[in-house]
Amino acid sequence: MFEASVYSKRREQLRKKLRSGLILFLGNNDSPMNYTANIYPFRQDSNFLYFIGIDQPNLAAVLDIDENTDILFGNDVTIEDIIWMGPQPLLKNTALKSGIKKQLPLTQLEEVIKKAIQQGRQIHFLPPYRADKAQWLESLFGIFASSVKIYSSPELIKAIISLRSIKSVIEIDEIESALKVTALMYAEAARMAEPGVRENEISGRIEGIALEAGARLTFPAIVTIRGETLHNSPTSTILKKGNLLIIDAGAESPLHYASDITRTMPVGGTFNTRQKEIYQTVARMQQTAINAIKPGIRYRDVHLDVAKILVEHMKVLGLMKGNAEEAVSAGAHALFFPHGLGHMLGLDVHDMEDLGENYVGYDEKKERSKQFGLAYLRLAKELVHGFVLTVEPGIYFIPALIDQWKTEKKHAGFINYAKVETYKGFGGIRIEDDVLVTRTGCRVLGIPIPK
Ligand code: GLY
Repeated sequence: MFEASVYSKRREQLRKKLRSGLILFLGNNDSPMNYTANIYPFRQDSNFLYFIGIDQPNLAAVLDIDENTDILFGNDVTIEDIIWMGPQPLLKNTALKSGIKKQLPLTQLEEVIKKAIQQGRQIHFLPPYRADKAQWLESLFGIFASSVKIYSSPELIKAIISLRSIKSVIEIDEIESALKVTALMYAEAARMAEPGVRENEISGRIEGIALEAGARLTFPAIVTIRGETLHNSPTSTILKKGNLLIIDAGAESPLHYASDITRTMPVGGTFNTRQKEIYQTVARMQQTAINAIKPGIRYRDVHLDVAKILVEHMKVLGLMKGNAEEAVSAGAHALFFPHGLGHMLGLDVHDMEDLGENYVGYDEKKERSKQFGLAYLRLAKELVHGFVLTVEPGIYFIPALIDQWKTEKKHAGFINYAKVETYKGFGGIRIEDDVLVTRTGCRVLGIPIPK
């Protein structure tokens, strides 16, 4: 955990943003894989981590804005628990590590909520993303689990996003400590990217490096020679000379801050001409974005500028034609770049996505586009000093999408389908780094990972 004062200050800032009432935080619980005692690795809820910091299951916290008090709810272990888990600190002492002086058994949460409801007080809670939390809210509030999300608090969501979006120095240090482990993972992957090696040998090894460092992965690693499938899982496919290997992975820091890096490497060490041309295009797209990032610029505009670079390069390669500005405005580039340029990064790899993508990445100034490709842009709003985000352009040749667009003659004025056909089987290339928005521009976080 950080020092107790970090959590106390965060809760104080949150209280100031909400006028009155109670704020309820439900921690995550153990999640069974196939029977109760056989669980997925425990991951604490990120909002709970941010404001309370205690990394263990079966906890809840109530912040009383009017009374200016915080209560941690949870049960001390029994002798039966100790037999399986070993001795555990008293919860009242753990609460002090978060700057919380009052701790009550979990059963009393129901009474506190019931009393607040009877008094007509506002109770702010967050939309649940796990079924057991929806059920927990149902039992506390008497609202059907299936509709409890509707009653979550937009004020609380917005207040949390405004706080969590700006990363402090200690949070940036955490992200950079995660990136140190990620750099080791990529060094090993680059060493292993040789003909005869299996995708899952590499994914196993890099996950092992994270585990060995006491970390774990931020999300299941993407390790694939079929990179045109954006979130392909590793398989037992054997790498062959000439393949393009995409690895999209990242380690978590000890306090669960994320890293998220993508590299594309030629199996056997060298790109052929086509691979080199597309790689250089993606590298140029990424550098254009990194050069442009600064406070006040809209990430949507950076995304669109990057798309223009793609079209200009694709025209030189004979894959596209026409005016680049018009092609991007029509969405023709999305045949090759069907996802967004990046997303916020923090305690979650897609930071705060549980609170609602549009709240995190958009503002009142511009609505989210419905256009294919641009619609997937998770972060579009003006950048602010302290944001941490990913910069991850890519170019992919997706046979099913090419076939569909070609049959529909979609954007035929901008796409040279005869040439595109000859790239089927190419795969995909993505390059991704994690970037901090500074006062005047940006800084790529972590030690450089070779491109
Ligand atoms: N790096 C995986 C993702 O952003 O979805």
